[in-house]
Amino acid sequence: MMLSKAATGLVNLLETEVAGDVTLDALLARLRGMSLQDFGAFFISLPNPNYPKLSSRLPHMASDEVQRSWTGNSGFPLLLQTSAFVEAVAKASLKYRRCALRGARMLDYGCGYGRIARLMYFFSDHADVVGVDPWDESIRICRADGLGDTFIQSDYLPKTLPVRGMFDVIYAFSVFTHTSERVTRMCLTTLVDYLAPGGLLVITIRPVDYWMSNDYAAAAGKREELVADHHASGFAFLPHNRAQIDGEIAYGDTSMTIEWLQNAVPSLQVCGTERPRADPLQVYVYLQRRREPE
Ligand SMILES: C[S@@+](CC[C@H](N)C(=O)[O-])C[C@H]1O[C@@H](n2cnc3c(N)ncnc32)[C@H](O)[C@@H]1O
Repeated sequence: MMLSKAATGLVNLLETEVAGDVTLDALLARLRGMSLQDFGAFFISLPNPNYPKLSSRLPHMASDEVQRSWTGNSGFPLLLQTSAFVEAVAKASLKYRRCALRGARMLDYGCGYGRIARLMYFFSDHADVVGVDPWDESIRICRADGLGDTFIQSDYLPKTLPVRGMFDVIYAFSVFTHTSERVTRMCLTTLVDYLAPGGLLVITIRPVDYWMSNDYAAAAGKREELVADHHASGFAFLPHNRAQIDGEIAYGDTSMTIEWLQNAVPSLQVCGTERPRADPLQVYVYLQRRREPE
């Protein structure tokens, strides 16, 4: 674990002070005394044999195998990608919501094993970071690692979500990079209903050049066809070898244009995009509910 000296001092102190009845939120409040990078590095080290008391109170990180199988990477290199996204969401919150991310009620849509949610505890209390995912195994892992019952199984084609209330920030990292056209349209339309007034939706999408690095598309001899689909309709989808859901394969690899997004879900407005330097093929898109003309 690569922690700064100040953060090491803080966790050493907390480990000696932590009492049996301390709440998770009280611990999170103390841990926010370190930087986001240290907070993330400490969280991915859990359970940590040097800190048995803190390890028994805080969520554990998923195994390396789970991290690689859901997100293609693990450990510190993956943490760099995760914190880059979380920092971008924090900046976008200030820019588009005109409000700091601190204390925001957040929904992690397609949360997987809760990789990003763990870092969002840097900003918000436990009950305010909610996660949904249609894959039962994702939710099983989140709960087994101690993320709790705010992580809930949803539908692949959701008309509603199994959550209560609205969210200041909804994010979906590497979810709409995998969904079919019908599923993408339906999920985004449903998400609008859960966006609080002035709320921010952050998703990632693949640009057309993604197909040149997709070996699966190359092996299937489909690269040119997918590029042509992307240019012709603004959306390209290569289904994976999976069971059908409601008459179609819902999951695969996906690229789309901003114009497609804008037309597919007119109730949303794209307010900005960003191609992160570390992973330019995972484009961040910032959206808000479209304002009715006055
Ligand atoms: C590549 S993983 C990313 C997980 C997580 N967002 C992360 O970045 O660590 C894609 C996730 O999307 C979920 N997913 C697939 N179809 C979905 C849908 N229709 N709605 C929401 N999530 C979906 C999968 O179950 C999986 O957990």
